[in-house]
Amino acid sequence: MQGFAGKVAVVTGAGSGIGQALAVELARSGASVAISDVNTEGLAQTEERLKAIGAPVKADRLDVAEREAFLAYAEAVNEHFGKVNQIYNNAGIAYTGDIEVSHFKDIERVMDVDFWGVVNGTKAFLPHLIASGDGHVINVSSVFGLFAVPSQAAYNAAKFAVRGFTEALRQEMQVARHPVKVTTVHPGGIKTAIARNATAAEGIDAAELAKTFDKRMASTTPERAAQVILDGVRKNKARVLVGTDAKVLDALVRLTGPGYQRLFSPVTHRVAAPKKR
Ligand SMILES: NC(=O)c1ccc[n+]([C@@H]2O[C@H](COP(=O)([O-])OP(=O)(O)OC[C@H]3O[C@@H](n4cnc5c(N)ncnc54)[C@H](O)[C@@H]3O)[C@@H](O)[C@H]2O)c1
Repeated sequence: MQGFAGKVAVVTGAGSGIGQALAVELARSGASVAISDVNTEGLAQTEERLKAIGAPVKADRLDVAEREAFLAYAEAVNEHFGKVNQIYNNAGIAYTGDIEVSHFKDIERVMDVDFWGVVNGTKAFLPHLIASGDGHVINVSSVFGLFAVPSQAAYNAAKFAVRGFTEALRQEMQVARHPVKVTTVHPGGIKTAIARNATAAEGIDAAELAKTFDKRMASTTPERAAQVILDGVRKNKARVLVGTDAKVLDALVRLTGPGYQRLFSPVTHRVAAPKKR
């Protein structure tokens, strides 16, 4: 797949899953890639794969929740490559737990990474994207940014927030006539380590949850997800839905309005938050 030759792309959370697949696909498409993650082992693997493809690569440990570090990182990437065209704000974490039993710190941590990580990345790179004359912000939300389910309030809040933030940004760039395109990504279930890496409230069977996710909910490979996302980026789509599950769920929510809550909750709570026996 060609189409990004000469472009400089930044991918956060590139040590695993969708971020790793995006970095590889971007490298194959001719881009120079700046990759980062808190998981330095996974990051090193991604770096090796990009080098094997022959792509110029810069790999750094970066926690997207650390604003000052993110701002310094944006300067360093711009200096290293001379410009930046695209940022994929992809890094994310999952957490399962009803609001009643979740601690403030559990909810804050999800917001810090999944929402503020996206804000930090967008704000840090926006001046460079504008200066490039051909910029693109790609923010990864989720189907959980389209509808809410019990036990996912923190994740839902962060992913709905990413959607609102990104949809506003797209319009702002158009109104200001800035040369920056903006895309929100809503993946359905993707076969990654997200559920295995997730945390959960006391009483939730996290191992059972990860097993169910891997077996029954994750239907799309990260490689396919990366192709769908990059296709949407090439076409400057406002919204990219990844997977048939995402498309069906999106249609169902639009069809039923708030009625989806009555429809979904009996099933979703059992599947999304299995209790320890
Ligand atoms: N897998 C799915 O089914 C699915 C569905 C919808 C949305 N998403 C979203 O896709 C994105 C990628 O997730 P994935 O499925 O590839 O999961 P993953 O766990 O395989 O990869 C996420 C990566 O983000 C990194 N990360 C976590 N916290 C970080 C931080 N503070 N700073 C920097 N890096 C950090 C992890 O180390 C990991 O390498 C996430 O935003 C996730 O919410 C995933």
